[in-house]
Amino acid sequence: MAPDEFVLDTPVVRQFVGEVQAAIGPASSPQQAIEAIRPAFAALLADPDWLPDAYRADAPESGMGGGIGQWLLYRAEDGSLSLFSLVVPSGSQTPVHDHLAWGLVGLYRGTQDEEIYTRRGNRLELKEQRALCPGDFYDLIPPQDDIHRVRTTSAETSVSIHLLTNDTGCVWRHAYDPDSGEAKPFRSGYVNAPCEDGA
Ligand SMILES: [Fe+2]
Repeated sequence: MAPDEFVLDTPVVRQFVGEVQAAIGPASSPQQAIEAIRPAFAALLADPDWLPDAYRADAPESGMGGGIGQWLLYRAEDGSLSLFSLVVPSGSQTPVHDHLAWGLVGLYRGTQDEEIYTRRGNRLELKEQRALCPGDFYDLIPPQDDIHRVRTTSAETSVSIHLLTNDTGCVWRHAYDPDSGEAKPFRSGYVNAPCEDGA
């Protein structure tokens, strides 16, 4: 079996992933695991030094469009966990998308507006809009609040940190047309790591 992949192999990332795995192991529910992970995640967002500039850079050719870069930092070999940064240039926004796995998402640099959608039959309805500042984070437990879009509102590029219990860049999920509600198969990929089939 392939070993876990530490693309950013540093003591900070190894310690964080170790703490996350230790929290998930005995947890009887995603909620319980998230509560146990929260302090380590907050500390990661508060630490200004652990993320090199390369993982804070936009990516003009990315599959997300708008110069948005999704940089893999770590993933488990069995696809059960991934840590990545999402870099959204000023004024750019992601497609409306889902994640299909529980986890934690927090803002590291810049500011963002987030729009959360809910399904009403075949349509999407805007449920909530919130402004995020560095250090803000939220948990994600699908299907609750799993469909969203983020837009960078700062003059500087925004960087958010995602810890999710799938190989988010490589799984097929959905991008949505917010007006019609139509869902299309969507795979974002990572800027710096291939998916198993080479994509
Ligand atoms: Fe997202």
